[in-house]
Amino acid sequence: MRHCMSPLDFSVDELDQLMGLAADIEENPDKYSHACDGKRLATCFYEPSTRTRLSFESAMLRLGGQTLGFASADSSSASKGESVSDTLRIISGYADICAIRHPKEGAPLVASLHSGIPVINAGDGGHAHPTQTLADLYTIKSLKGRLDHFTIGLCGDLKFGRTVHSLISALVRYEGVHFVLISPEELKLPSYIREDVLEKNGATYEETESLEDAMPKLDVLYMTRVQRERFFNEDDYVRLKDRYILDNDKMKLGREDMIVMHPLPRVNEISVEVDDDPRAQYFTQAKKAVFIRMALILTLLGIQVDKNIPQPTNNPSSEKGGEKC
Ligand code: CP
Repeated sequence: MRHCMSPLDFSVDELDQLMGLAADIEENPDKYSHACDGKRLATCFYEPSTRTRLSFESAMLRLGGQTLGFASADSSSASKGESVSDTLRIISGYADICAIRHPKEGAPLVASLHSGIPVINAGDGGHAHPTQTLADLYTIKSLKGRLDHFTIGLCGDLKFGRTVHSLISALVRYEGVHFVLISPEELKLPSYIREDVLEKNGATYEETESLEDAMPKLDVLYMTRVQRERFFNEDDYVRLKDRYILDNDKMKLGREDMIVMHPLPRVNEISVEVDDDPRAQYFTQAKKAVFIRMALILTLLGIQVDKNIPQPTNNPSSEKGGEKC
């Protein structure tokens, strides 16, 4: 049985297959509309979510399956002290696959060790958000046509932003990706990711506090929200939250073929006036997430609809996840 804890759980070839399957689902939704008849997805969310939980539910419903779950720790027996491992033992009798979000790093991994069904990490604390990364990769591939040889600017909260951490881990496996890390000193990328992920994999990167200076270099600008829920001190959050605001004046500094992404939700970091710029692709990104999550559900359940569309197996890959393409 295969779980999804990290984007590195999939080799580069397998990621290509997942994205190919997602593209086929996006083009031919009717072909897949009964693929999961009789299957149930549980969504166990101990932290708030709009996109991840509802897009997983939408994904399963579009595949013909059903959904059940809870949207907060307060509305589950976690509020009475039940552990995630006990919860997953129970859910394994109610559902065929489970997506879990938890504020504690590693909780989905613990859950997977006690689960009788495939478990998907839907975000764990400041650690990782692998299915957001799958959505990000699929969006870049769809819109730019490739996942290699481009420059990506990651802007905002690079310290606590789990989507950034997961995306960097995934992108270092592709040749020629240059990273521009745009953040204030206090929200810099943690050294364990700079050293153990970027440097160890030979990726090129630069760090700057200036979004304006970075703009002309970028093929992709990935904006992020300052994560209020991860700060220990409200004053620090208030001081840093509006450090970067992307508006039409800053967009003028960007290339015509640049795309702007954001995992969402946004607060103030992208002005709504930018939404009308054709380079703003964050709503497309959220929409495409449904198709890659459909592809992931099919893969982890071992359901192949079209034998002509290559798909990863539902057993852990024998390939090493860390290789470059
Ligand atoms: N991108 C993302 O994870 O959004 P939600 O927190 O709304 O799920």
